Amino acid sequence: MLSALLLSLLGVAPVLGLDAATNHRLLKTGRPQVALWQALRAQEKANSLYDGSDDQVAFSAPSHEAHCFDQSISHFGEVNGTFCQRYWMDDRYYKPGGPVFLLDGGETDGADRLPFLETGILQILSNATGGLSIVLEHRYYGGSVPVESFSTDDLRFLNNADSLEDSANFIRNFKPPKHLGVYTEALKPKNTPWIYYGGSYAGARAAFMRKEYPDLVWGAIASSAVTHAQINMAEYFDPIQKYADQTCIATLQGAIRAIDALLELPHPVPTLLKGLFGVAGLENDDFGGVLQYPLGYWQARNWDPAVSSNGWEEFCDALTRGGKGGRIGLLKITPAIMNYAKYIREHVVAQCPTDAVDCFGNHNDTKFLVDDLDQTWRLWLFQVCTQWGYFMPAPKEGPSILSKHVTLEYASNICKQAYPPGKYFAVPNWPNITDVNARGDYELEAERLAYIDGEADPWRTMTPQADIAPKRKSSVDKPLHLIEDGVHHWDENGLEHHDLEPPKIRDVHEFEVLFVQEWLAQFRESKGVWNVGKE
Ligand SMILES: *[C@@H]1O[C@H](CO)[C@@H](O)[C@H](O)[C@H]1NC(C)=O
Ligand SMILES: *[C@@H]1O[C@H](CO)[C@@H](O)[C@H](O)[C@H]1NC(C)=O
Ligand SMILES: *[C@@H]1O[C@H](CO)[C@@H](O)[C@H](O)[C@H]1NC(C)=O
Ligand SMILES: *[C@@H]1O[C@H](CO)[C@@H](O)[C@H](O)[C@H]1NC(C)=O
Repeated sequence: MLSALLLSLLGVAPVLGLDAATNHRLLKTGRPQVALWQALRAQEKANSLYDGSDDQVAFSAPSHEAHCFDQSISHFGEVNGTFCQRYWMDDRYYKPGGPVFLLDGGETDGADRLPFLETGILQILSNATGGLSIVLEHRYYGGSVPVESFSTDDLRFLNNADSLEDSANFIRNFKPPKHLGVYTEALKPKNTPWIYYGGSYAGARAAFMRKEYPDLVWGAIASSAVTHAQINMAEYFDPIQKYADQTCIATLQGAIRAIDALLELPHPVPTLLKGLFGVAGLENDDFGGVLQYPLGYWQARNWDPAVSSNGWEEFCDALTRGGKGGRIGLLKITPAIMNYAKYIREHVVAQCPTDAVDCFGNHNDTKFLVDDLDQTWRLWLFQVCTQWGYFMPAPKEGPSILSKHVTLEYASNICKQAYPPGKYFAVPNWPNITDVNARGDYELEAERLAYIDGEADPWRTMTPQADIAPKRKSSVDKPLHLIEDGVHHWDENGLEHHDLEPPKIRDVHEFEVLFVQEWLAQFRESKGVWNVGKE
């Protein structure tokens, strides 16, 4: 058992690490900007007030201290041993007999999900039903790390089968804290309905959990649930081109077309062009990667200005500002390209504490081989490289908002650079997406499994509400909802005063409360009597 001191340290673990939004921007759209991530991280550590011994750096209210669930490292007997899987609980609305809502932390530090427990979907559902809210951190993320390094071998327990079994094991063996006044037995899934919630990757996990562990998970809400895995996800950029401001998109497409044409011209034009962007030393593919950087801002938008990025608007404003244009030698350069170059210099290259080749060059493997526990970029990328895919190259044809030099090979090469074969495990040549898709793919459905999506979410293309997925009808048992103009799991967060949320967000939250109440009534009916004891 862990000491109280250690537990309290876990609860107030200093958040040494780039914030979730920065992490997301650098690592989740296109080939991850690992070197820039590393440079920023080094800078952050150098500037950090944290000296490695200070346990006073609290990131949330003390009522939300982290607890520890003793979890098996390998559920399939490859090794023995356990690790501490962190979870957070909120019982302020709990009434004995009420349901349990479990929110899956997915591919991030679980502490990043605490706002959803405080004012978001967990708080809303628990308040409406007398429920107990739990955030469960995903293995390998945040403080739930079962290994000593993030080498290829040590990452081998980061897979779908083991991490789904974690949640199942947690639900089977969860022990309510004494002060709740309920027997452990009363919270077992045969006596209490467990409702599972996840967004994005965790949304897919919510759907898998409902489908594969129906005796444990009474109902699930799968938000922006990427149940379809795919190696080449060029369509990530389709919703951006369709739903974003069309002047911005046309300007961007035109600039990309012209840039790709200039890159075909003889020396020194390509070098001079890259020089305009502040990255003269980069090869064409890495240059394409830098140009792609602002595209990640589209999905970083949120209906709540307090958590939304305004990066996309900033980029579009900069790009479409007009102006005079410029020259490289005798060649005329359009105003859009000049604006694009200025934007990249000021917003992307300026972030780099060293030089551009160091931050944006991907042709030197050395930095990708670093595998200590600080290299958290290796986690989701490992899942991408082994089971999920989602590489985001330029489309083979048609108008594009990224350079044709961003090829599938370029986007995926990092898998080979970062994860050399180990003694016990080798990353496959291409991700084996069969594991994900065999779990149900676009067709995945179950009673009491809801899908919530954002209309303009680039990831909707990988969910059961994709335009190409089989059409479905919404019902109380299999609810569907599309948030108009919404992006990525926009139902997950909420405001302290819910009546201040925009109408379409209040609507989706009310919808979720209604069908969950119905599901809970079904549970009561199926049991006859409410089987709860007082301790
Ligand atoms: C795990 O423990 C069991 C029981 O003690 C033992 O039989 C088994 O060989 C161990 N497995 C490994 C991989 O060490
Ligand atoms: C809890 O739910 C009640 C009933 O719907 C509502 O009036 C109240 O504002 C909610 N409280 C919070 C803090 O959301
Ligand atoms: C590659 O990067 C490493 C570490 O950053 C550096 O020491 C080495 O000189 C680089 N190699 C080349 C060929 O640039
Ligand atoms: C891919 O994964 C599936 C299911 O997990 C497995 O059956 C299959 O053998 C794997 N394919 C390869 C080429 O390893």
